[in-house]
Amino acid sequence: MDTSDRLLVADVPARDAQPERLVRARTERAALVDWPFDPSVAMLQPIDHTQRIRPADIEELVERAALEGRRAVRTSALFPGSAAPALDLGFTPIDELVLLRRSLDNAAIEQLGDTSRTTRPLTRRRLDEAARLDVASFGPLWGHDRSTLSATRAATASSRTRGITADRRLIAFSISGRTGRSGYLQRLAVDPARRRCGLGHLLALDAMRWMTRLRCIDVWVNTSVSNTAALHLYEGLGFERRVERLIVAELDLTEERGSK
Ligand SMILES: CC(C)(COP(=O)(O)OP(=O)(O)OC[C@H]1O[C@@H](n2cnc3c(N)ncnc32)[C@H](O)[C@@H]1OP(=O)(O)O)[C@@H](O)C(=O)NCCC(=O)NCCS
Repeated sequence: MDTSDRLLVADVPARDAQPERLVRARTERAALVDWPFDPSVAMLQPIDHTQRIRPADIEELVERAALEGRRAVRTSALFPGSAAPALDLGFTPIDELVLLRRSLDNAAIEQLGDTSRTTRPLTRRRLDEAARLDVASFGPLWGHDRSTLSATRAATASSRTRGITADRRLIAFSISGRTGRSGYLQRLAVDPARRRCGLGHLLALDAMRWMTRLRCIDVWVNTSVSNTAALHLYEGLGFERRVERLIVAELDLTEERGSK
């Protein structure tokens, strides 16, 4: 199994496991869904990351998005094999993501920090609050809405969603998953006013402990090349960067329409 087999299980909703998220169109290897908070943009994502998206999949879905009157098509994070045909068809890279991995063994994880503070399960009732925190953390372009967070939870065979509250308000949350013997840190957000207090570290460690209990052998995460805080956090927890980079790319359909 190569890296792409492993990682993006965590990134892409499993087939038919996204009740709150409407697939607008699909080909054999890719699907179009609405971009969170901005349905004028269609998100193009692989259906199964073990299979590369082909140029024909992209062309068909771009045509569909144009017919629907969308202003742009943006991809999810793609491995180079799927990003290349998109770039060949005129998409522009808008973000590059570093892929990191850590092997898991119980003793090493136990040494990583104190266990005195605890996290709590994040109920579905709190998902809207989590979406607000997500947007405050990642910004309006990259923030997830309720349905994208739900889809993330449904993307792996087992999932753990934890939150930390203060004065009954959600101030941090994480979504992690496990498929096979690999774990994935899928989403982690801390209220901007509560950063550098150890909450990100606590949630990441909580997820890694859960993964070791499930007998995972490694844990994967990806983050933007420019996300210094997250890169420091993960490298401090023993993650190592891989050579592969993931790409998010966009095609502006208004320019295409204008040039016709
Ligand atoms: C990344 C993030 C989750 C870190 O949360 P946090 O609660 O502030 O992190 P912690 O306080 O647990 O910090 C743990 C370590 O991470 C590193 N770190 C955290 N923020 C950092 C920053 N702004 N600059 C450099 N290093 C940083 C440090 O090594 C820190 O240890 P130290 O405080 O002893 O130096 C938070 O900044 C955030 O929500 N960012 C926006 C969303 C995001 O990027 N999520 C992760 C994407 S995969």
